[in-house]
Amino acid sequence: MRTAICPGSFDPVTNGHIDIIQRTCALFDRVYVAVLENYHKPSRLFSAGERVDMLRQCSAKLPNVEVLAYDGLLADLARELKANAVVKGLRAVSDFEIEFQQALTNKQLNPQLETVFMTAESQFMYLSSSVVKQVGLHGGTIGDFVPSEILGAVEDRINSVLRSA
Ligand code: PNS
Repeated sequence: MRTAICPGSFDPVTNGHIDIIQRTCALFDRVYVAVLENYHKPSRLFSAGERVDMLRQCSAKLPNVEVLAYDGLLADLARELKANAVVKGLRAVSDFEIEFQQALTNKQLNPQLETVFMTAESQFMYLSSSVVKQVGLHGGTIGDFVPSEILGAVEDRINSVLRSA
């Protein structure tokens, strides 16, 4: 069985992430969407449990997807899940340096694990969770950036951050 992991912080999941997950589903028998639990950036909007729930809602129609939270090394998680590959989306050249470093580190830690880079679709080249937060927190419309299933939850959280600021 060909098994892939799509890892990330997903704070929040974007349409670009969902595009990569859907395309990974077409290539692999089983796809684990792995949400980094221990994610302490000051800009964090959602807890790990909330991010997992949102990804479950957005991937409900994809039969070969399982969403889980993880802590620790991705290379160890891959061993535990018997995954053959990590699939990451690549947007611009600016992604490449950090992704290349992570891929080589993961290969060193788990030589069985391949990293597959998937080119982002052109309409998602600019899109990231940080862009969603920046636009939303400055009063912009984020409806084109996040899946409709979670739009209300993301807008509510952004509004509550703005109210408490
Ligand atoms: O959404 P992101 O920030 O691009 O995701 C990065 C992530 C979570 C995939 C990566 O930071 C990760 O797997 N971290 C877990 C710790 C780890 O395994 N580090 C070794 C690779 S450098």
